[in-house]
Amino acid sequence: MKDIYEIAVVHGDGIGPEVCAATIEVVKAALGPDSPLRFSEYPAGAEHFLKTGQSFPEPTFLACRAADAILHGAGGLPGVVHPDGTEAGLDFTLKLRFELDLYANIRPIRLFEGVESPLRGVKAGDIDYIILRENSEGLYAARGSGARLRGEVAVDTLVQTRTGIERIVRKAFELARQSDGAPRDGVRRVTCCDKANVLRSYAFFRSVFDEVAKDYPDIATEYALVDAMAMHLVLKPGHFNVIVSENMFGDILSDLAAATVGGMGMAPSAEIGDANGFFQAAHGSAPDIAGKGIANPYGTILSAASMLDWLGHKHGDAKLNQAAGRIRSVTEACLAGGLLSADLKGSASTRQITHSVCDRLAAAA
Ligand code: IPM
Ligand code: MN
Repeated sequence: MKDIYEIAVVHGDGIGPEVCAATIEVVKAALGPDSPLRFSEYPAGAEHFLKTGQSFPEPTFLACRAADAILHGAGGLPGVVHPDGTEAGLDFTLKLRFELDLYANIRPIRLFEGVESPLRGVKAGDIDYIILRENSEGLYAARGSGARLRGEVAVDTLVQTRTGIERIVRKAFELARQSDGAPRDGVRRVTCCDKANVLRSYAFFRSVFDEVAKDYPDIATEYALVDAMAMHLVLKPGHFNVIVSENMFGDILSDLAAATVGGMGMAPSAEIGDANGFFQAAHGSAPDIAGKGIANPYGTILSAASMLDWLGHKHGDAKLNQAAGRIRSVTEACLAGGLLSADLKGSASTRQITHSVCDRLAAAA
């Protein structure tokens, strides 16, 4: 347990500052006047790159590395790119993942009461699984280092290591063990999502998965090829409990999965390594609605609840876990009560949602 937990905050671009500010208010309301969290803001992102030529200043990196946790709004603006065409605003997220070895990207996909799914015949509770995205290697590890030759050839390489696969698969089984199983049948199950039929790197992923699975005889296992997985997540989402996959596949499936539970605004994530934790929603910076006050803050708020849970477990500080629980139940109640932003077909503003969540938290304290 610590007296003070340092939280490095990077607001980022587009709607990032709006959802981030909303979330900080909510966390403060959940912890009350004796909150042990200290929030300090640092610059990074596409806007900062336009102003200064730097997307991720070194002091920001050092502060993030030293902090107890990192909270981010969202990063990136279309057209703000490096000479190789990739987005400068993503440097923050990607550099943190690779430099701090945040190998586990935990993305809960859950349909809440009050939120409509575009899928027919599913109700709250029918969709409740985790996409566990490998976050430290895979295809995205090639960022910035692939070859570009004569303006004619571009190559990025997919890297998968035994160590990297083992630790993410182990995490998947641990998460399944802690869970209540799949909504449809209550079975604790880990689905290995790959493309083992075509590429040897994915066949390797699967073989390491099989080795690790032997240590978890109590958990059901299965394989799903990623293309079929895209279909399964639409046709039988209730079957899944924990899905583990390579970095890029996890990225792509995350958006598909989010769509089934109300959209990107409802997609929290937690990016965890052995030392550091980084918390942001899985969505982008939505520049088309930035500054209008209508952004959906729930994804970032739920990511902050994961932050409190992670800090609470790491430091044996139960009051942080209790605050996380309060944020989750208040969020659930607000959604069920129809407090919905425009993306959820409601009319509540970011402010209105933030105020209602904070009021209820104050009442719960
Ligand atoms: C995500 C995002 C990131 C990714 C971007 C912001 C780098 O889409 O977290 O899913 O591509 O991984
Ligand atoms: Mn993504």
